[in-house]
Amino acid sequence: MKLYFATNNLHKVAEVQNILGRDFEVLSLKDLGNADEIPETGNTLEENSRLKARYVYDTYGMNCFADDTGLEVEALGGAPGVHSARYAGTPGDDSKNVDMLLENLKKAVNRNARFRTVITLITDGKEKQFEGVVNGKIVNERRGEGGFGYDPVFVPNGYVTTFAEMTSKEKNRISHRGISIRKFADFLLT
Ligand code: IMP
Repeated sequence: MKLYFATNNLHKVAEVQNILGRDFEVLSLKDLGNADEIPETGNTLEENSRLKARYVYDTYGMNCFADDTGLEVEALGGAPGVHSARYAGTPGDDSKNVDMLLENLKKAVNRNARFRTVITLITDGKEKQFEGVVNGKIVNERRGEGGFGYDPVFVPNGYVTTFAEMTSKEKNRISHRGISIRKFADFLLT
């Protein structure tokens, strides 16, 4: 079955293709002749993930899915959440976002945070959502060179290393995105 992923991020496409295997062909927006990312105008991860998948299904009539991810920090009432990519302003800048997060948490004793991914799948017009969560803590200073986004300041519960200090294989095994993709894959493959 062909499945269109509402993204032009080819790393994400390859990651999902790897997990789904040969029964599925994962294609990107570019394969539909659309080189732009779809605007994320929703107020929640659920809304954004749904509106991207809906856009593809309603415009092209293709079976498809979309994802949306955010970092939710307890002491900040769930921020940056749906605004994670552009927390420090537009255009989004990972380094400035981390600076702003550390600044806003300077006095915070509660360092609890979680990454959350929501995937929306639409097949034959029917929608289903899958959630992946990883709980952890925000440390005071950046550690590690790997990953992207908030990885250098996020330590998952049960670990002493930040996501940026892990190999991508280690991170994918426990990450929000890995969990949501495996739930989505289990649904499609069983
Ligand atoms: P997206 O929905 O996958 O584009 O993610 C939105 C934003 O959340 C990104 O721009 C990053 O700032 C942050 N983010 C998403 N996934 C991760 C991750 O695995 N590690 C660190 N930051 C992430």
